[in-house]
Amino acid sequence: MGSSNIDEAAMDEQDIPTYASSLPVPNVQEMVRENPLHVPERYIRNHEDMPKSTDATHLSSKIPVIDLLLLSSGRKEELKKLDLACQEWGFFQVVNHSVTKEVVHNFKDATAEFFDLPLEEKNMYAMASNDIQGYGHAYVVSEEQKLDWSDALILITYPSKYRRLRFWPTTPTGFKEITEAYANELRRVAEELIGSISLIMGMDKSTLLAMHKELMQGMRLNYYPTCNKPDQVLGISPHSDTSTITILHQDENVNGLQIRHGGEWVPVNPIENALVVNIGDVIEVQILQFIEPILSNGKYKSIEHRAVTNENKARISFATFFIPNDDVELEPLDNLVDPKTTLRMYKKVRYGDYLRQSMKSKLQGKAHTEMAKNGT
Ligand code: OGA
Ligand code: NI
Repeated sequence: MGSSNIDEAAMDEQDIPTYASSLPVPNVQEMVRENPLHVPERYIRNHEDMPKSTDATHLSSKIPVIDLLLLSSGRKEELKKLDLACQEWGFFQVVNHSVTKEVVHNFKDATAEFFDLPLEEKNMYAMASNDIQGYGHAYVVSEEQKLDWSDALILITYPSKYRRLRFWPTTPTGFKEITEAYANELRRVAEELIGSISLIMGMDKSTLLAMHKELMQGMRLNYYPTCNKPDQVLGISPHSDTSTITILHQDENVNGLQIRHGGEWVPVNPIENALVVNIGDVIEVQILQFIEPILSNGKYKSIEHRAVTNENKARISFATFFIPNDDVELEPLDNLVDPKTTLRMYKKVRYGDYLRQSMKSKLQGKAHTEMAKNGT
């Protein structure tokens, strides 16, 4: 009866995994557009959680900068630098990544144009109640929780069969192709970085990537409107990423990202054309057992970070998350450790369960990593 296309589409949709539901909350950009002076109570943080003038800006210039060209040619010094960056910071900036400026600019423009659309038009891509793909807010689980001063468009970009295309904006024209071009370039960067991380973990270059079964890729395009009370709200609550690695492109002209380092918040100053990379929970869960009982801290950690807002300029950032296939079992790598001297901090956990469990609670530092710890 000519309905086979519809049936097919419905079947495809069913095969696409869902992640978690999130409660509906107001659109922040629209709230600011209607009344730039008003900051509702639900966004006002407790004093101790707020950005402070004592944030450690003097450490920003110490955040490592890695040259991807040197790294991918296997230069020892660059690998060593990466090892230190992963151990001491969990965050670094990447230059010489050869992602073309054109691809980035097209994507930046398309995203900015999307966020500029009237709310009714953006809401054509609004998240469904049971999932996080689309335009809206993730990680909202209770009426009481404090809300982030941002809106986001979340898309699964790879594997392409998992894309829910009805959430991919059709305005501006070409958004899909432009996003795809950007996503593909970042995938190349990610595979290169994961290869190098595999090497510094003491494995073959291809091992860590192979452990993902299929490297999945998702994107979160964040829009942080200006805020009349920037020292009382947060653009995004402190959290560590549930990814293997995350690659963030941030606006060159507006600061916002801060990372937790030595108990302080350190702003990550944008470097022109650089990408910000961080180690996610997957790496931490797999290799934290490197720690020996006599040492007090782990080897590579997924570091807490947050975004702050400002009064004068809206900020857009693109976070690209690289994650394992849902069925991958994360567990400490036996072949890399001596079981007699090593503290087994994490237990075996299926990645798909870990990811979904983390999305059932609000973003709250590293609280979600507890579920993978031994003894819980
Ligand atoms: C994220 C994130 C930080 C930023 O999307 O996971 O940490 O600066 N974003 O936008
Ligand atoms: Ni993050």
